[in-house]
Amino acid sequence: MPPSAAIPAERLRLSVAPMMDWTDTHCRNFHRLLAPHARLYTEMVHANAVIHGDRMRLLAKDDGQHPVALQLGGSEPALLAQAARIGAEHGFDEINLNCGCPSDRVQAGRFGACLMREPSLVADCVAGMIAATPDTPITVKCRLGVDDDHEWERFLAFIDTIAAAGCRMFVVHARNAWLQGLSPKENREVPPLRYDWAYRLKHERPALQVIVNGGIADLDEATAHLGHTDGAMLGRAAYHDPYLLHRLDAAWFAGETRTRGELLRAWRPYVQAQLERGTYLKHMTRHILGLYHGERGGRAFRQILSEGAHRPGADWSLVEQALAVTEIPQGLPFDERAA
Ligand SMILES: Cc1cc2nc3c(=O)[nH]c(=O)nc-3n(C[C@H](O)[C@H](O)[C@H](O)COP(=O)(O)O)c2cc1C
Repeated sequence: MPPSAAIPAERLRLSVAPMMDWTDTHCRNFHRLLAPHARLYTEMVHANAVIHGDRMRLLAKDDGQHPVALQLGGSEPALLAQAARIGAEHGFDEINLNCGCPSDRVQAGRFGACLMREPSLVADCVAGMIAATPDTPITVKCRLGVDDDHEWERFLAFIDTIAAAGCRMFVVHARNAWLQGLSPKENREVPPLRYDWAYRLKHERPALQVIVNGGIADLDEATAHLGHTDGAMLGRAAYHDPYLLHRLDAAWFAGETRTRGELLRAWRPYVQAQLERGTYLKHMTRHILGLYHGERGGRAFRQILSEGAHRPGADWSLVEQALAVTEIPQGLPFDERAA
C-alpha cells in the first residue's frame, strides 16, 4: 500500500484542534495571524456534506490560512475518498479523518469515536482516501479507546492496522471516549488523560508522526510534550486564550512577540474586507473575545464586543472602542469595573 504524502516535521509541532462551531474560516484567519507556524484544522464536515452540500460555505477558507487541514467525518470508504479529493482540489493541505467524536448523532451515523472498534474499516477508509489524493497527507485523529477498552495492545493494533493502510500521522486525544452516559463536553473532561500512551506510541513506532492532544493548558505543559512526541495540539486553551498561541509560536519558532493590540490591528484589513462582502462583525469578533483573557481591561473588552457586535452596522470602530479600554495608561484613574 503506498503511504500517504508526508508532512514536514516542523509543520507539526504546533496545531489548533478541529472544533465544531468554533474553528470556522474567520477563527482560523485570526489564529493564523497569532501563530504563523501553527497547523490549523477546520470543524468536522461529514463526507456527504462535502459531496452534496454548500461547498462554498463548508469549505470556505482563504489563501493566508495555510497550512490548513480539512477534517472529515464518515465511515464509507468511497464517500470519504470522494470528499477527500474535493478537499484536496479546494487546496486543503491535509485531510484528517475523525475517529474521536463521541456525540450521539455521530454514533448513530457509525463514525467518530465508535470507529476505534473498527480498525479494518478505518484502514479501508484511509486507503481509499490516499488513493484518491496521493499528494495530500491523509491523517487520523483518535482517542485511546472507547468505554472500558484499556488494553495497550488493542490501541496499538488499531494504529498499526491504519498505518499499514498508509497513514503516517496520528493525532491522539489522550483519553478514552465513553459512548454511554456522557455528553460530548463531559467526554472532553471526565475520562482521565493518559499522555503516556501517546509517548509510548511514539517510542514504539518512531516512524509514525504522533501529535498529542487533550487538556494542554499552558506554554510549559505544551513544551514538555515536545520531548516525547512530534507536536502538541491545543483546542480549548487556544480558543479561550488565543494569545497563548502567539506565545507558543514565538517561543518555538524564534519569532518576535507582538502585543495583543498590534496583532488585533493587523487583523483589520481582513475584517474590513469581510464587512464589505456582507459578513457581520459578530461572526468574526466572537472568536477574539478571549484575547485579553486574564489581562487588565479583559472583561470590558469582551463585554463591549459581545454587546455591540450584533447591532446593525457594527464595524471596526467597535473593535477600536474595545481596544481602548485595554490601553488606559497605567497610573491614570481606572474604572475597576473594566478590569
Ligand atoms: C466546541 C468543541 C468542538 C469540537 N469539535 C471537534 C470536531 O469537530 N472534531 C474533532 O476531532 N474534535 C472536536 N473537538 C475536540 C477537540 O478537537 C479536542 O480533541 C478536545 O477539545 C481536547 O483538546 P483540548 O483539551 O486542548 O481542548 C471539539 C472540542 C470542542 C471544545
